[in-house]
Amino acid sequence: MNERIDESVVIPVITIDGPSGSGKGTVSRLIASQLGWHFLDSGALYRLVALAALNRQFALSEEGEISLLANSLDVKFKINSSFGEPQILLDGALVGDEIRSEQCGNAASKVAALPAVREALLQRQRDFSCSPGLVADGRDMGSVVFPHAKLKIFLDASAEERAQRRYKQLKEKGMSANLAALLEEIQVRDARDRNRCVAPLVPADGAILIDSTTQGIDEVVTGILEAWSKLV
Ligand code: DC
Repeated sequence: MNERIDESVVIPVITIDGPSGSGKGTVSRLIASQLGWHFLDSGALYRLVALAALNRQFALSEEGEISLLANSLDVKFKINSSFGEPQILLDGALVGDEIRSEQCGNAASKVAALPAVREALLQRQRDFSCSPGLVADGRDMGSVVFPHAKLKIFLDASAEERAQRRYKQLKEKGMSANLAALLEEIQVRDARDRNRCVAPLVPADGAILIDSTTQGIDEVVTGILEAWSKLV
């Protein structure tokens, strides 16, 4: 394991873990923006590794090749001044919506189950922890990557609600979508993420559990900011 210091011991970190579609990406970005902190979208790193592996036509079970790829991944996040998704450059080329596709999400979930790939991305994720603070979004942010984070959240929602949200999102982007297929994909991906032997998706020790099935984004953000304000 990498022995470098976990910066979250000194830099304040809020971790927001949960399954895909729970709203954690939007919630994390809003909280980072309101606190004026940095933001880590760890899922994007796994998606980029998957995309790079697919581009090279690697089998997604090729742990050795894919972990080398993860180690040397040439990726840059260009933060927009306004709230929104940062631009991502992979090997110097702008990555568009292809990393947000279901195909890339599923491939990311497969490469993320490879222990050597997770190890290869560990320090890269910890390096996001910079002053004045970090909001980290993922599956194992509170349990593995930033175990000393001051505030840990586990944001969940029912699979049906998450499939509905994804369906709406795809339709708004003018993309085709099938609700039943989305629900099935979500259930398969959940099972893989929750049951893998390394860093499975589970609430970290001490995490606050929030169910966003019937809560709006604003309500969730307010709840997390209140929890944070009680700690400082
Ligand atoms: O959050 P997301 O949907 O962009 O993540 C894509 C996949 O990456 C997800 O199915 C599992 C994996 N992942 C992970 O294993 N650990 C993380 N910290 C983030 C994502």
